[in-house]
Amino acid sequence: MNHAPHSEAHPWCAVAASRDVPVQSVIPVMLEELSLAVWRSSDGSIHAWHDRCPHRGMRLSMGDVAEKGLVCPYHGWRFGGDAQCNFIPAHPGGTPPAAARVRPYPAVERNGYIWVARQDTSVEPPSLPAGVTPVRSMHMPVSGERLAGFWTRACLHATGRFSRVESSCPETALFQSYVEGSGSILHGKWQSAGLGVDYVGIVQPTHGGTCMLHLAAQEPLSAEARLGLNRALVALRHEISRSTACEPKWGMNHECV
Ligand code: FES
Repeated sequence: MNHAPHSEAHPWCAVAASRDVPVQSVIPVMLEELSLAVWRSSDGSIHAWHDRCPHRGMRLSMGDVAEKGLVCPYHGWRFGGDAQCNFIPAHPGGTPPAAARVRPYPAVERNGYIWVARQDTSVEPPSLPAGVTPVRSMHMPVSGERLAGFWTRACLHATGRFSRVESSCPETALFQSYVEGSGSILHGKWQSAGLGVDYVGIVQPTHGGTCMLHLAAQEPLSAEARLGLNRALVALRHEISRSTACEPKWGMNHECV
């Protein structure tokens, strides 16, 4: 397992749980400032495209998925799974020009997640431990590096070392655990009230110095453990929001009380 930061070492990043993109649906995704339309066709295959229609630049993630492709919400151009326009409503009998094509990005599904690469690559997507299942994905108002710092309270680049979570916030006691390694994929064990759950946190850099955290855990996962992990994730975001709100801004010092 590679624990180095995503953008430096690994071209793939999880952008959504597979279950969050049902057949014939599309969602918007941000990956390192890149806007993507991630959609699933009627045959179940997954696609990740630049979220921009080649006609007038409309966001394709606001469109609909029809039987024969993704339909732009503006003038109705339709794009097949090969990213090529295959229908223009204003010219129903014509052949769309070859230039009417969306930029596709590599996308695969593995371990219950949709993984996207920003460029063609021969590198395989990461493999999560067998039996790991997505629990919840949550936006975090900090960068991936800072998120790892909040989480581990340890040096982000201390690859392979085990570190005890140190937190002054009682709410994040739920997250007290041992975290192995650092970077875009964090491993750890969540322990509370006799429950012990191995989890994996995948960090997806999004935009403006923020990120998405995809939390997965080892099956079998009891309802109690699932609820606890969800609460822990909410508590983590709360602590991050509280801490970052107390940071110095505009050259003035604010005290956190
Ligand atoms: S902008 Fe997409 S069809 Fe015109």
